[in-house]
Amino acid sequence: MTKRMLLAAGLLALPLVGGCDGPHQEKQATPAATTPAEADRPWLDAKLQASQRVDLVLAAMTQEEKLRLVFGYFASRQSDRPDFVRPPESREGSAGYIPGIPRLGIPALWETDAGVGVATQGNAETFRERTALPSGMATAATWDPAIAYAGGAMIGDEARRSGFNVLLAGGVNLVREPRNGRNFEYGGEDPLLAGVMVGEQIRGIQSQRIISTIKHFAYNDQESGRHILNVELDEAAARMSDLLAFEFAIERSNPGSVMCAYNRVGGTYACENDWLLNDVLKRDWSYPGFVMSDWGAVHSTDKAANAGLDQQSAYTFDKQPFFGKPLADAVAAGRVPQARLDDMARRILTAMFTHGVVDHPVAEQAETIDFAAHAQVTRTDAERGAVLLRNQGMLPLAATTKRIVVIGGHADKGVLSGGGSSQVYPVGGRAVQGLEPATWPGPVIYFPSSPLEELRKLMPEADIRFVDGTDPDAAAKAARESDVAIIFATQWTSESQDFELTLPDGQDGLIAKVANANPRTAVVLQTGGPVLMPWLDTVDAVLEAWYPGTAGGEAIARLLTGAANPSGRLPVTFPASLDQLPRPTLDKPQKVDGKEQLFDVRYQEGAAVGYRWFEAKGLKPLFPFGHGLSYTDFTFGDLAATATGSSLTVRVTVRNEGARSGISVPQLYIGPVAGGWEAPRRLGGWQTVQLEPGASATVDIAVDPRLLATYDTQAREWRIAAGDYRVQIAASSGVEPAQEQVVTLTGATLPVTYDAPAQVPPATGR
Ligand code: BGC
Repeated sequence: MTKRMLLAAGLLALPLVGGCDGPHQEKQATPAATTPAEADRPWLDAKLQASQRVDLVLAAMTQEEKLRLVFGYFASRQSDRPDFVRPPESREGSAGYIPGIPRLGIPALWETDAGVGVATQGNAETFRERTALPSGMATAATWDPAIAYAGGAMIGDEARRSGFNVLLAGGVNLVREPRNGRNFEYGGEDPLLAGVMVGEQIRGIQSQRIISTIKHFAYNDQESGRHILNVELDEAAARMSDLLAFEFAIERSNPGSVMCAYNRVGGTYACENDWLLNDVLKRDWSYPGFVMSDWGAVHSTDKAANAGLDQQSAYTFDKQPFFGKPLADAVAAGRVPQARLDDMARRILTAMFTHGVVDHPVAEQAETIDFAAHAQVTRTDAERGAVLLRNQGMLPLAATTKRIVVIGGHADKGVLSGGGSSQVYPVGGRAVQGLEPATWPGPVIYFPSSPLEELRKLMPEADIRFVDGTDPDAAAKAARESDVAIIFATQWTSESQDFELTLPDGQDGLIAKVANANPRTAVVLQTGGPVLMPWLDTVDAVLEAWYPGTAGGEAIARLLTGAANPSGRLPVTFPASLDQLPRPTLDKPQKVDGKEQLFDVRYQEGAAVGYRWFEAKGLKPLFPFGHGLSYTDFTFGDLAATATGSSLTVRVTVRNEGARSGISVPQLYIGPVAGGWEAPRRLGGWQTVQLEPGASATVDIAVDPRLLATYDTQAREWRIAAGDYRVQIAASSGVEPAQEQVVTLTGATLPVTYDAPAQVPPATGR
């Protein structure tokens, strides 16, 4: 049996406590002896399998109770719906609430956004101060599944202590559009990297006996017109790209819920898309959990219910309550079969029993959180995920550096975060006041972790000045008077809008002027994703720190001074110009009489997303996927690839040739010698290896056979063509491979239902 079949049959609960060390492990629950309550309510017996428990409780449920489970409320105030009164039992300032069934011992579902930490919705009177990880993009840039897992476990712990048992996390939309305002929430452009990293974060969250979603299913790859746009993408290409990212993440983590997206797919809204929900997710992938709608993504009752939507979220975001009474009527009239309603309830209950939500109730009152321990988790993630893009020798800063000027980016106060529903309010309050936009999708929030202060702590002998960068001449003068200049350049991005790739507020001009005054200039970027860098050749160093989370200032200072050695690698291609993109002009809705018109976005690049597009077209990006420098040097040797039928494993030796401890990320790229894929090569796997100076290690990388295949829509199978394949080990997609070997595969087919072997690999790559 595959893992998927075991899961579907309720025979395999993924480990509640994950396979890696982290500060948040709970002891495995010892099932208590049967209590009198359980005698009446046998589904509360934790010794039974989830599927048995669901059968028992479903049989005891009334129709009204089933309907209650599939209908959600918003849990905050909604400025456009002053008539809406949130249910008093919901947790104010959060995203959603589904009432429980107390007589059956079924708890309510308290939902909060949690892409990078426990978020707060809307109004500042109800915010909760919590730890924020760096952006999803930053975590993906660590290429270390153990980091993603630890971050997920941290969020899960804070959520549980805050009274939440469903986390709206697990964003895995691929970066097809570098201008997408939500790229910071996601895992980059490669289906394997994104699937593994996001899957591990979900596993970490669910290790705390909490349900996580994965979202937004599918193709919600830009924010412009997200409620109405229609994506056209060939099915085979989708199975090899966007859907594959979901498939990898889901089979690795079994998220309790899948959140369907706002947009349309092949002409039909994602939340009423029979092909997407019933065929791909529930049939081909045997997904046992429930589909919840995004907030305002439901457009029908019968169509949505029959197409596989299991729960309408926060109904006030939709035109009307499509579930609730309309669903009751549709079932009574036979337009939605009773069996479908039972299946909806079954799926929700399956997630609740499987992930421990019933057996381990979350806190009623907020509990104490170990913020000091969590600061370590987020700082490590930020340190590991920052990518040193360029270094002509200025970094790490020499301990003897006397005069340093730090310029701009509110670096004296804190670090930037991304906006929208994933916004976390930091412990200690907002570091910078008065920024625009102040309301949705703002406020713009800087976390109170000042890189300047941290730098001063690490370099007490140096004279470190700050100028705010609003006057480029003053900044240039300060740079001229200093040994080195460090400019903090920022771009705030957010949900609900897209952004140009140009740094805002004239920062390009500021950087050019400062670099002209002093070529020993380093730029620290805090951006959601790629930006253009017209000044690149004039500066000495560039560190991409993304949105680095609530301990980001500390992480940046440690990287600049060499207290930590940069180890991030780009999970996304940085284009050199917009005309290199598959869609140089962003598709946006047209307005007629003030009303936005439906429109199509055609993914003509098919499965050639990101680096695959660049390589297929022979384009040279600004910085390639996989790129990232270190303060030490690594070499790769002794490549040995073993191919048997459709299976490919690779062994390589990595050596640290430099004088510092550091982390290497050997990347495996594969491609058929005869061509025939959407691009010359794909990422087949990688490892992250920490090595002391002079040390070496041998690592193994196993390639998932779907990454050797193309998908055949007619035959509904994966096809691995017989023939020769190039196997390359490289430091990034942009450099000559250090090692290469040609192997012969005999060819094979795999059914569309193929999934990974039953054992989830350990969370650590080391
Ligand atoms: C976002 C989701 C989020 C939901 C609830 C929507 O606007 O697209 O990602 O989980 O709101 O806040």
